[in-house]
Amino acid sequence: MPVFKVRRALGARLNDAGIEDAELDARHMLRAVFGDVALDAGPDHCLDKEAAMQLETMCARREKREPLSHILGSWEFWSLELRVSVDVLTPRPETERLIELALGALGSGPSKILDLGTGSGAILYSLLSERPEALGVGVDLCPDALKIADANARALNLNKRIQLIEGNWGAALDLAPFDVLVSNPPYIASAVINTLEPEVRAFEPMLALDGGADGLDAYRAILPLIPCYLKSGGWFAFEIGADQGEALLNLAQTQENIQKIEIFQDLVGRDRVICGYSN
Ligand SMILES: C[S@@+](CC[C@H](N)C(=O)[O-])C[C@H]1O[C@@H](n2cnc3c(N)ncnc32)[C@H](O)[C@@H]1O
Repeated sequence: MPVFKVRRALGARLNDAGIEDAELDARHMLRAVFGDVALDAGPDHCLDKEAAMQLETMCARREKREPLSHILGSWEFWSLELRVSVDVLTPRPETERLIELALGALGSGPSKILDLGTGSGAILYSLLSERPEALGVGVDLCPDALKIADANARALNLNKRIQLIEGNWGAALDLAPFDVLVSNPPYIASAVINTLEPEVRAFEPMLALDGGADGLDAYRAILPLIPCYLKSGGWFAFEIGADQGEALLNLAQTQENIQKIEIFQDLVGRDRVICGYSN
């Protein structure tokens, strides 16, 4: 069958399975199997049997709502190609807002960055890729997530500039003080998780999603650690849920030894990041 017809058929099947960006997903799958060439192929360009079978397997998985990132095995974030799996959150485009803000706060010289809940390493490695003199520490409770983070650091040639620590939010206190503390902690209220798209509720790690009854458990644990982790005048930024800005501002303002707390919005105007400084 000619490639353009395969693409249409794939798109139609994914659309019937309820996938929002069916056409885009079909293109990603074709590109994964053939490279860019197939997307521009003329009407005479046909698939061989092996390629058709590969695509069939991918499409069947996607029809069951497995995330495209898991099927492809990698995902792009801040122009970095990151390995992903069931053990890490697939990095989201809205997290790039935190990267922009952090780059504004980081100087160009040497600095020490801490990323709590590092997962694939998306946040930490994006920052290190932009700041060649910076060093970083990534903490995560999930050992399998840290294996992915380690593989990504090696693939990006950042492994000599990072240290990965398995443990709870306070696990890197021995390595303080840091200049910058970033985190995208789990922040979805437990009861909401079952209402999310199947790609998220059935395939993303619960440890990366579940923020407790009101979604704020992780912030309650991390906020008191800010003055212990940061040097005086150090900067922090946490990603937050779109409906959590006010609650987090209230929570952060009761915290001693942090100041100049601000909420920033993402590209579509929703609350997305809370930032501030250590006294
Ligand atoms: C929302 S994911 C963020 C992953 C990655 N930083 C990103 O932005 O794509 C949250 C991460 O926090 C980790 N995590 C959850 N609870 C934790 C805890 N108590 N201590 C340390 N890490 C934790 C999870 O394993 C997960 O990797």
